[in-house]
Amino acid sequence: MGMVMVVTILVLLSLLLKLAYQTISCYWLTPLRIKKIMEMQGVGGPKPRFFSGNILDMASLVSKTTSHDMKTISHDIVGRLLPHFLLWSSQYGKRFVYWNGTEPRLCLTETELIKEFLSKCSTVSGRSWQQRQGSKHFIGGGLLMANAQDWYHQRHIVAPAFAGDRLKGYAGHMVECTKEMLQLLQNALDSGRNEVEIGEYMTKLTADIISRTEFGTSYQKGKKIFHLLKVLQTRCAQASRHLCLPGSRYFPSKYNREIKSLKMEVERLLMEIIQSRKDCVEIGRSESYGNDLLGMLLNEMEKKNSLDLQLVMDECKTFFFAGHETTALLLTWTVMLLASNPSWQQKVRDEIKSICSDSGIPSFHQLSKLTLLHMVINESMRLYPPALVLPRMAFEDILLGDLYIPKGLSIWIPVLAIHHSEKLWGKDANQFNPDRFTSKSYTPGRFLPFASGPRNCVGQAFALMEAKIILAMLISRYSFTISENYHHAPVVVLTIKPKYGVQVCLKPLET
Ligand code: HEM
Ligand SMILES: *[C@@H]1O[C@H](CO)[C@@H](O)[C@H](O)[C@H]1NC(C)=O
Ligand SMILES: *[C@@H]1O[C@H](CO)[C@@H](O)[C@H](O)[C@H]1NC(C)=O
Repeated sequence: MGMVMVVTILVLLSLLLKLAYQTISCYWLTPLRIKKIMEMQGVGGPKPRFFSGNILDMASLVSKTTSHDMKTISHDIVGRLLPHFLLWSSQYGKRFVYWNGTEPRLCLTETELIKEFLSKCSTVSGRSWQQRQGSKHFIGGGLLMANAQDWYHQRHIVAPAFAGDRLKGYAGHMVECTKEMLQLLQNALDSGRNEVEIGEYMTKLTADIISRTEFGTSYQKGKKIFHLLKVLQTRCAQASRHLCLPGSRYFPSKYNREIKSLKMEVERLLMEIIQSRKDCVEIGRSESYGNDLLGMLLNEMEKKNSLDLQLVMDECKTFFFAGHETTALLLTWTVMLLASNPSWQQKVRDEIKSICSDSGIPSFHQLSKLTLLHMVINESMRLYPPALVLPRMAFEDILLGDLYIPKGLSIWIPVLAIHHSEKLWGKDANQFNPDRFTSKSYTPGRFLPFASGPRNCVGQAFALMEAKIILAMLISRYSFTISENYHHAPVVVLTIKPKYGVQVCLKPLET
């Protein structure tokens, strides 16, 4: 008996020691080793504090710069949204390492290195454990959060659903949903209001569009799923703020129970839709799983003999998460820019008129001819990139130009700062000037709204098509000006958002 006790205690002790060593190594030794390696290459950075790193410095800088609204509609927002970047790059130069808690991050701003990194390192770098943990409950292991071989496999399954001719099939849904949104705007006008907060309308619209393109005729159920996903996302964010102790996510707290039941409900609804597709194919009522996004995914997986229902569900959730708010924000900022630049608004309107006739509804093949509109969209994504930074974790040692990046170091690309750099874009970098995109001479790596390389945004063409259709239909129907109630106050909540929305005054156009 005594012997068993002793052995048990010894085993427990050695397990504890191992855990302690792993923790110290992960939180302390490895980061310190990385710091040394970077210092030897002349890459310095702000001094980290114990455990919290530079997080407190960052938080206090940002809370200071965003404590007030901007006095005018100025696009000079880097100092406001990334004040720590400005401070540290002025102190330590173009490369520096800062500490997000115990995680060291290398800030990379050299376009040559960025281009090389994004084009070559898509399987040896990816999402950090922290990132994956944070989104585990609502998007799971979908493409956005996958790494290495899993990512490679999933990318090949997902990409065809967003490629060339498949896109054409989604255009009809986009037009239908936009018509409904325009009707809602008209209702607001008819009821005597001529000022609307356009962000609300855009958010609802892009959610509608993703529901319909993803689930086709089952889109009512899709909408319900997305509503639940939104709640789930907020709960996960709240929970991560409340739970700081390691292991606390296993406790049956109020949040955890709610998260679990929401997740189950989402997956039950998704499974219902998927199962009914499978049934139709199995009893021979249809030959394929359908030509909406879900159908494309199922077809593609079957072709590759790798039908994995959990993965299908995770991809469905991922499309919603990755493709809905980003596009809504792009549209909202673009409307703000055009509302405060009437001459560009008119130029774009004339272009739409001349290409799409009076209906203002572009057909699929007319979309590529809307050059001015595309320039405006590009300029909007340059000034207000929905994804303002790109974080990637190095899983292996990487040699990048003259820079040696050790395994475990995070790379942090401050897209917003690069998009506003006077060195890269000229003296008018902070001005709205879509004409800059007419010049064909362009520096690779300086314009990254959708990242670049093999791990760029898989929904890029989808998003651009959606943005063009919606803007063309809106602009040809209404002229709009910025309301005096609009207060310019960009803030960062995952993406760049207008703090109080974008209020515009609408005027119907004679058609
Ligand atoms: C204006 C709208 C959009 C912007 C600005 C945008 C931006 C981005 C960016 C910057 C990335 C790379 C993230 C990183 O590597 O850290 C990305 C990835 C991704 N986006 Fe988008 N996106 C948009 C719309 C969409 C849409 C409409 C969809 C799908 C319906 C979508 C699906 C995805 C997916 C699945 C990934 C992960 C790709 C991979 O890791 O291989 N996005 N997006
Ligand atoms: C690191 O930064 C991300 C956001 O970029 C945040 O969600 C995460 O909690 C941070 N990590 C730590 C250890 O604080
Ligand atoms: C917009 O930017 C993309 C790069 O993402 C470029 O390929 C395209 O030519 C630009 N289009 C216009 C019309 O400026």
